Amino acid sequence: MTETGSTPDLTSEQISATTRATNYGTWRFQKSWKPLHVVDAEGCWFTDGGGKRYLDFSSQLMCVNLGHKNPRVVESIGEQARELAFMGPVYATTARAKLSAKLLEVLPRGLEKFFFATSGTEANEAAFKIARMVTGKNKIISRYRSYHGSTSGSIAATGDPRRWAMEPAGKGIGFVFAPETNCYACPIRHTYPGCNIACADYLEHMIRNESDVAAVIVEPVVGTNGVLVPPPEYLPRLREICDRHGVLLIADEVMAGWGRTGRWFSVDHWDVKPDILVTAKGITSAYVPLGLCATTAKLADYFEDHYFSHGHTYEAHPITLGPAVATIEEMQRLKLVERAASLEPYVREKLEALREKHPSVGDVRGLGLFFAVELVKNRTTREPFNTMRDKVEGKPLVVDQIAAKMMADGVAQQAWISHFVIAPPLIVTREELDLGIETLDRHLGVADALIA
Ligand SMILES: Cc1ncc(COP(=O)(O)O)c(C=O)c1O
Repeated sequence: MTETGSTPDLTSEQISATTRATNYGTWRFQKSWKPLHVVDAEGCWFTDGGGKRYLDFSSQLMCVNLGHKNPRVVESIGEQARELAFMGPVYATTARAKLSAKLLEVLPRGLEKFFFATSGTEANEAAFKIARMVTGKNKIISRYRSYHGSTSGSIAATGDPRRWAMEPAGKGIGFVFAPETNCYACPIRHTYPGCNIACADYLEHMIRNESDVAAVIVEPVVGTNGVLVPPPEYLPRLREICDRHGVLLIADEVMAGWGRTGRWFSVDHWDVKPDILVTAKGITSAYVPLGLCATTAKLADYFEDHYFSHGHTYEAHPITLGPAVATIEEMQRLKLVERAASLEPYVREKLEALREKHPSVGDVRGLGLFFAVELVKNRTTREPFNTMRDKVEGKPLVVDQIAAKMMADGVAQQAWISHFVIAPPLIVTREELDLGIETLDRHLGVADALIA
């Protein structure tokens, strides 16, 4: 400490070491965590303490959809802080009214009543409570290949292995799992279209046999767990099934929303109207933490005469809301939803070329600027290089080895178990797309060499 109490300049090594020593690194074994000191980020790039630049090829956690340091959104944070930094959720604020009006412009029609939280996790918790309160039923059907958040309800609803550490105590009462829709690696070994979407029919079978089902939650396009795009009939069929049984449909658009798939929300591809839509991440391009749980007026009406038993101190926090208005306006001004749609064929063609060239690439799939490149040991059996168990046991994963080489070459690429999630900011240029995909191409030989 200096005499004035200010902290002396720290080196990048000190900053990384202090962070490492005093903070938890999430979803990982701690001993391998060496957090990179990042000092700046602009557009599709960020810069480390040594001045090295990295192409942000997955928009951090698939969330910085506008790219870094958008001047208008940065400005809006200061403006909101100066105007009104905090008011409790019982009050009306200008930011709250402006954002609500803006949401009505872009959300699927019919979603008209909003609960603002500060993360996707919290927004999903709100959705579960609302669904249970309105229907008076308890069970929530989720799917195995899914992530819905980290707190008790949302982790219990999560199908992927991040749930395992919490079991059995954190199992959560009433969460049951349906098979995912994964046409490349169908869990019930069906083949589309001959299957006639048996996975949706099985979900109906579950609703009948479980009874007491309040809601079904799906990521309409599954994110981290493989950018799984359902066949066109799936979501309309699921909507019909839910209607037939008086079960609510919750669309978790935390990752797939906000232009990522080339539509404002991924359900828009199939014109399906959920009863509840949950989102976060891209709503502010992640500059400030905001989650949204949007419901139909019909659900909202229930609470006119019933107690809405939910809330947070930070619900509808003005500093989270003002920048969301600026984010949506910037997305509209820059036509980023249209841009993601128009770049889709370019990305698809380039990734298909990787599949032609590299025997380890089993599948490429996606929509908009949201793609997975899935690696397999063997294209016939489609066996992945690593398993969910490898991931939670901290074994070295082939995708992580490749991502580390890409990082050394200045491209930050998210990887999960046996695939990569390609999701650059929606402002990405063709040159930046070329650079990211060329860098992946350069290192896929690591996996090709391990082909069975
Ligand atoms: C589909 C989905 N739902 C929920 C969440 C949880 O959101 P958060 O990390 O903001 O709590 C995530 C996070 O990645 C997600 O991808």
